[in-house]
Amino acid sequence: MKHRNLAFNFFVQTWLAITIAYNGASFGDEYKKKISSHLCKNEYKYKITQPMLDLCKEQAYNFGYAINGFNRGITECQSLFTNQRWNCSTFDVDSEFTLFNTVMSRGSKEAAVQMAMASAGMIEGITASLRRKKKPTTKDESGCNTQLAQQNPGEYYSECDADLTIGNRFANLVIKTWQPQTNQEEVQMNEHNSYVGKMAVQLNMQKVCRCAGISGNCVTKCCYQTLKPLKVSAQWLQAQYSKAQKVVRSQRVRRDGRYLLVNEKDGKEPANTDLIYILDSPDYCNHDINKNSLGTTGRLCNNTSLDTNGCEYMCCGRGYVTEELNVDDFCKCKFNWCCDVTCDRCKKTVTRHICK
Ligand SMILES: *[C@@H]1O[C@H](CO)[C@@H](O)[C@H](O)[C@H]1NC(C)=O
Ligand SMILES: *[C@@H]1O[C@H](CO)[C@@H](O)[C@H](O)[C@H]1NC(C)=O
Ligand SMILES: *[C@@H]1O[C@H](CO)[C@@H](O)[C@H](O)[C@H]1NC(C)=O
Repeated sequence: MKHRNLAFNFFVQTWLAITIAYNGASFGDEYKKKISSHLCKNEYKYKITQPMLDLCKEQAYNFGYAINGFNRGITECQSLFTNQRWNCSTFDVDSEFTLFNTVMSRGSKEAAVQMAMASAGMIEGITASLRRKKKPTTKDESGCNTQLAQQNPGEYYSECDADLTIGNRFANLVIKTWQPQTNQEEVQMNEHNSYVGKMAVQLNMQKVCRCAGISGNCVTKCCYQTLKPLKVSAQWLQAQYSKAQKVVRSQRVRRDGRYLLVNEKDGKEPANTDLIYILDSPDYCNHDINKNSLGTTGRLCNNTSLDTNGCEYMCCGRGYVTEELNVDDFCKCKFNWCCDVTCDRCKKTVTRHICK
């Protein structure tokens, strides 16, 4: 299973490298056809529905960046939740809820944050790729319009704010074409949380200003909105996770004919920055496929920490085993004038604690 993911990621990376090298804009039709037939082919075995396959064929360029951004979103999620019982991983089995080789969690608060981070990754990935492509002649390399700078001394805004529209639309399409339409509330939940992912990227953009114009005394500044690293949006989403709202179906109907999902407690409509969920979470202590829980057996823990990574909490009271490992390490490092460092290799013993 690990193997398959590696091969898959390698393929996507290679594809992206080629795409970036050719700068997307200059693709001939023949080349586009080649990319899409490789990328969209079922031989890569990410579970793909027919509508998704069509989407891939129509827009291979965005699709490739969506896969890559999705994977980066999941990686952020796993690094932010590494000290929790739920570590943003789910069963690596043949589930209908697999998106780009990742088995997604379902219905819970954890599913909400996972979807939002994946979606933020897709939006960010596509948006960044479009910015790299955009190189009109009146702009300098930062995107500042040199003509505008001459017309408007002072602070002006370039037209090259990061624009999330296309990335957001595409991420929505991916999720719409992927989702099994079995449970309407779950479908709505995923779409809502995907939108929260967009809000995460949008609210965490930053205004950048640089001196513009010819005088060099910074009388004229050019400002634009740019993306912050995905980690920033992911951290914001992690904070939203801790106050996610449980929702239920109300009697009220939305304009699109679906039932409105409202907060279970006060009947209010959640804001578009609130993560929402429909199912209570398990405690993630035990291995239980039906609850989407991997269990914490085999997880590393810290024997003295009182936090969520402490063995007491992480192992759910089952106890832990302590292991000593000999690992290769660098030691007796010497600094040689000038400038290099030489080290010996030696064995080091590390102690690990692992949940029973
Ligand atoms: C998450 O935890 C499971 C065991 O519960 C483990 O198999 C998996 O490797 C962990 N994933 C990450 C990304 O740490
Ligand atoms: C925790 O583990 C360390 C080794 O990592 C050991 O030296 C220490 O005695 C342990 N403490 C407790 C309370 O078990
Ligand atoms: C374990 O937790 C303690 C207390 O939080 C901390 O001081 C220590 O650095 C941690 N050990 C490791 C190996 O992370």
